[in-house]
Amino acid sequence: MNPELIKKDFPILNQQINQKDLVYLDNGATSQKPSQVIKAITHFYETSNANVHRSIHTLATRATIGYEKAHETVANLINAKSHEVIFTRGTTDGLNKIARSLKNSTINNAPVFQDGDEIVLTEMEHHANIVPWQQVKKDLKKQNINITLKWIPLTDNYELDLSNLNQIITKKTKVLSLTHISNVLGTINPVKQIIKQAKNINPNIITIIDAAQSVPHMPVDVKDLGCEVLVFSSHKMLGPTGIGALYGKESLLKEIEPFNYGGDMIMDVSKESANWNELPFKFEAGTPSLAQAAGFKSAIDYLTTIGMQKIKEHSDELTSYMLEKLSAIKGLKIIGPNTAKNRAPVVSFTINSIHNHDINEILNSEGIAIRVGNHCAMPLMQSLSISNGTLRASAYIYNTKKDVDKLTTTLNKAIKIFSK
Ligand code: ALA
Repeated sequence: MNPELIKKDFPILNQQINQKDLVYLDNGATSQKPSQVIKAITHFYETSNANVHRSIHTLATRATIGYEKAHETVANLINAKSHEVIFTRGTTDGLNKIARSLKNSTINNAPVFQDGDEIVLTEMEHHANIVPWQQVKKDLKKQNINITLKWIPLTDNYELDLSNLNQIITKKTKVLSLTHISNVLGTINPVKQIIKQAKNINPNIITIIDAAQSVPHMPVDVKDLGCEVLVFSSHKMLGPTGIGALYGKESLLKEIEPFNYGGDMIMDVSKESANWNELPFKFEAGTPSLAQAAGFKSAIDYLTTIGMQKIKEHSDELTSYMLEKLSAIKGLKIIGPNTAKNRAPVVSFTINSIHNHDINEILNSEGIAIRVGNHCAMPLMQSLSISNGTLRASAYIYNTKKDVDKLTTTLNKAIKIFSK
């Protein structure tokens, strides 16, 4: 793959910011969109806009077929069945929905959560995979059901410390929910191995993978991972905002409570009650995000035309280069594993005694966009005793080594300015 050629497909990247060529390195937050995706959204509105699964005129049929094709495309990307893919608003929405549904569900005629049960998370989760579970705990407490949140800690090399996993996960652990790639540290977690180990301890555990940072960058196969649920967002993988996917294993989705109630998710309704539609419609109440689904499909088509394996190789190459160049800067500390093995091109760092916002100011004046702050991961920052957050550069398919060179040159310039 040729990132220089790929860049040409992205109109937004072909501009100057502060009279400098834009270098976009904030892909962990959101990715840019190629013309193909922008056109797919416009094309939907210009040719096919109608509601789905309702009317049967030509436009409605066209919209329905397009929407269902989008499910198929997402399913093929992650090796799921089409009816195991539920469209959500994004990763955060998916995690909230699955947490709330499990709290209200029974499996094999027993409530998922009972007094004394546990939910296991890791210390590298972002807020979207922490707060919904804290809320589940609070809500259950009101029903006199006390559950515990437990945490897999980190090693000194910013990886998960799995040495005590056999004590952390027990027969009382109902849910294990963890990130595939940390949005702060860039660490790629060995989720397949962790899921296997968790299921050896407790075969009934429900495993949930936050794949927001992994699906855009590498091949992900839900059957191979063995998870029950996996969530990700379209906007981090060239697609529009406002749509994402939740994969759920068919057997689980058949048992658990719907996420929302209303039109399209029902089979029959009387004044007294209703019963639920087939998968995936049971989980998609109301008019879905139709143009966004067309854009999401087009984004996946774009990525798979390049090939997810090729994208992974490009990610690995840029990760190595970013680590090499950034670690050569005096006073710069990388917050994350310092080798490219099992690491994504998401590199957080701090610079000795210079405020992150001052560095950001200089980068922005040179047209370089990165993220500053706690990256929606305050508990991780607390575990690492980082009080002012970090700077974070995160690359994607259109980034080149030249972009990394511009970043490092400008960082050196900023250090010079603030060290005077
Ligand atoms: N979770 C996103 C990020 O890391 C928003 O920036």
